[in-house]
Amino acid sequence: MCGIVGYVGSRGAQDNLLGGLRRLEYRGYDSAGIAVIDEHGTLDIRKKSGKLRVLLEDLAAHPMADGATGIGHTRWATHGGPTDANAHPHLGDDGKLALIHNGIIENFFALKDELVAEGYEFSSDTDSEVAAVLLGREYRATGDLVEAFGRVVGRLNGAFTLLAIHQEQPGLVVGARRNSPLVVGLGNGENFLGSDVAAFIEHTRRAVAVGHDQIVAITADGISITDFSGAMVPVEEFEVAWDAEAADKGGWSSFMAKEISEQPEAVANTLAGRITAGRVDLTELAGIADVLRSITRIVIVACGTAAYSGMVAKYAIEKWAKLPVEVELSHEFRYREPVLDSSVLVISVSQSGETMDTLMAVKYAAEAGAHTLSVCNTQGATIPRESSAVLYTRAGPEVAVASTKAFVAQVAALYLFGLHLAALRGTLGDAEQAEGAAGLQAIPEKLTEVLLEGERIEQLAHWMADTRAVLFLGRHVGYPVALEGALKLKELAYIHAEGFAAGELKHGPIALIEPGQPVFVIVPSPLGSELIHSKVVSNIQEIRARGARVIAIAAAGDVSVLPFADEVIRVPLAEPLFEPLLSVVPLQMFAMRLAEAKGLDVDQPRNLAKSVTVE
Ligand code: G6P
Repeated sequence: MCGIVGYVGSRGAQDNLLGGLRRLEYRGYDSAGIAVIDEHGTLDIRKKSGKLRVLLEDLAAHPMADGATGIGHTRWATHGGPTDANAHPHLGDDGKLALIHNGIIENFFALKDELVAEGYEFSSDTDSEVAAVLLGREYRATGDLVEAFGRVVGRLNGAFTLLAIHQEQPGLVVGARRNSPLVVGLGNGENFLGSDVAAFIEHTRRAVAVGHDQIVAITADGISITDFSGAMVPVEEFEVAWDAEAADKGGWSSFMAKEISEQPEAVANTLAGRITAGRVDLTELAGIADVLRSITRIVIVACGTAAYSGMVAKYAIEKWAKLPVEVELSHEFRYREPVLDSSVLVISVSQSGETMDTLMAVKYAAEAGAHTLSVCNTQGATIPRESSAVLYTRAGPEVAVASTKAFVAQVAALYLFGLHLAALRGTLGDAEQAEGAAGLQAIPEKLTEVLLEGERIEQLAHWMADTRAVLFLGRHVGYPVALEGALKLKELAYIHAEGFAAGELKHGPIALIEPGQPVFVIVPSPLGSELIHSKVVSNIQEIRARGARVIAIAAAGDVSVLPFADEVIRVPLAEPLFEPLLSVVPLQMFAMRLAEAKGLDVDQPRNLAKSVTVE
C-alpha cells in the first residue's frame, strides 16, 4: 500500500510533494512525511502519524526550509503501528540519506540482525528502515546513490518501491521497484515520481512507467532507467488520458459522491469508439484474436468490487460466447493448483491495476501457460503491463476507497468483451450483437435517471441510521449486485451486511429474519424470465410474512412488488443482463448516505486502502 512521490526541479519541492500526497492519500492514510534537501544542501525531514492534514498543520505551525529536491510518503501500516517514528521517510548514513518505501521487505529480520551486529541503530519497528540503513551503508561504500541502489535491491526479498535522496547528491532522486508501482512524470525543467499518475497530473501528462526490477534516476532535466544488473533500459513515454480536474473533488461533498455522479460518463467513455454500426470492435484485442478463437474456458480473477463485476459478466459472456466462465477471488485462485493451460484465458479485473493478490494470480496464470487479459482503469499500472492484452475501462481516476464508477465501467468493458468474443467465435447473430450493443449504449442515459433517486435514498438512509444489520437478496445477475450492496454498506457504514442468492434463502438465511429486519431485494427485470421474476416476488412474500422490512429495487412500471414492499426504489426498465449496471447505483448511494448520517468519512473508511499492494 502507501503512496509515494518524488520531485526534482527548480520550484519549491514541498508544495509539489504535498500536492502529490493529497492525491495519493487514498493509498493509505495512517501517517505522512516528506524529506527535502534545502537550499543549503541539508536534508530535513518531517513526518507525523495520522492523516496528511496533521502533517500539513505541523508544517504550517513550524515551517521547514524548502529546496528543489524531495520525496514524500503517505502510509498504510504493515510493519509497526502508525506512530511518528514508524512514519516515512526513514534515515540512513547518519541522517544524510532519506528513504521511503511501499511494499513489504520479507527478509528484513535477517538484514536487521546483520546491520545491528555491525553497530547500526534503528529508531522504528518498520521493515523500511532496514532498507534506509542498508542503502546508507552502500552509499558510504560507493559514493553514488544509483550504484548503492544496485547493491541494495539484490539483497531484498518481497515487494517494494523505494525512493531515496542523499544530501551529497542534491538534484537527484533515485527509485527502484519490484512488484510495487512507480511512474515518472516528465515536466519542463522538472521531473516527478509517483505511485501513480495522479501524483503529478496537475503538472504534466507526459509519463513513463518504470518496469519490474528496474532502477530509475531523475534530475531536473533528465531521466535514466537501468535494470537491476545495471544495463540501460529504453525510456518509453506515454500520454496520460486523465486531466487534473478529473482527479479533483470539484464541489461535491466527497469523492465518492462525485464518483457516483460520474457513472453515466464512466460507462459512455468506456464504450466510446468501441461500437460501430451495432457491432463491437475492440481493436486493442486484435493481437489476441487467434487466442480468443481457440480458448475453451475463461477464468476471471479479481478482488472486492472488481470480483463482483466479474460475477455479473459471467452471465453475459456465457450466454453470448457460449464459453464456460469461472470467477474466482485472486487470492484463492493461485493457492489451489487450478487447472490451466493455453486453452484458458485468465481475465483479471482491477481498477488500480496494482492489487497484489490479483497481480500474483496473473503471474501464476501466465507461468502455467494460460493467456492473460487485463481489464483495468489505470494506465501504466503493473497488472496490464504483466498481461498479454489489456482492455482499459475509462472511468477516470477513482479516489474514494470504496469503488463505484469503476464497477459499472468494468461491467461495461466485460460486456464489450463478451460481445467481441461472440462475434469472433460466431456464436451470436448480427441482430443479437446489435441488440447487446444497443443495450450497452442505452446505459449512460438510464444511469442519469437512476441518479435522480438520490434524495429519496438519502431520506431512507437517515431513517435507517440506527440499523445494526441489513440483508441483500438477488437472483441471477441480481445476486452479485446483492453482494456488492452488502460490501458497500460494510465498507462505508460499518454495519453488518450480508448478500444472499435469493434461492438460498430457504436453506439458512431466512432464520435471520425477525420483525423489523431490513432486507433489500433486487427484483429481476420483468423483461426477462417470468419464472425468475416470480420466484423473487415469492421470496419477498416469504420474508415479509416473517416481519422483514422490504426495500425493493425494481424496474419502473413493475407493480408486482407493490403489495409486499415497504419501500420501492425505481430503476429504468432494462433487459435483465443490463439491470445490474442500474440497480447497483441505489445501493452505492444508500451506503454512502447512511455512512454520512453516522458522521463517518466516506472517502477513507477505517482500516481500508484503495490499492492493496500487499498479499
Ligand atoms: C480494495 C478496495 C476495494 C476494491 C479492491 C480491488 O479492497 O478497498 O474497493 O474493490 O481493493 O481493487 P482493484 O484496484 O483491484 O479493483
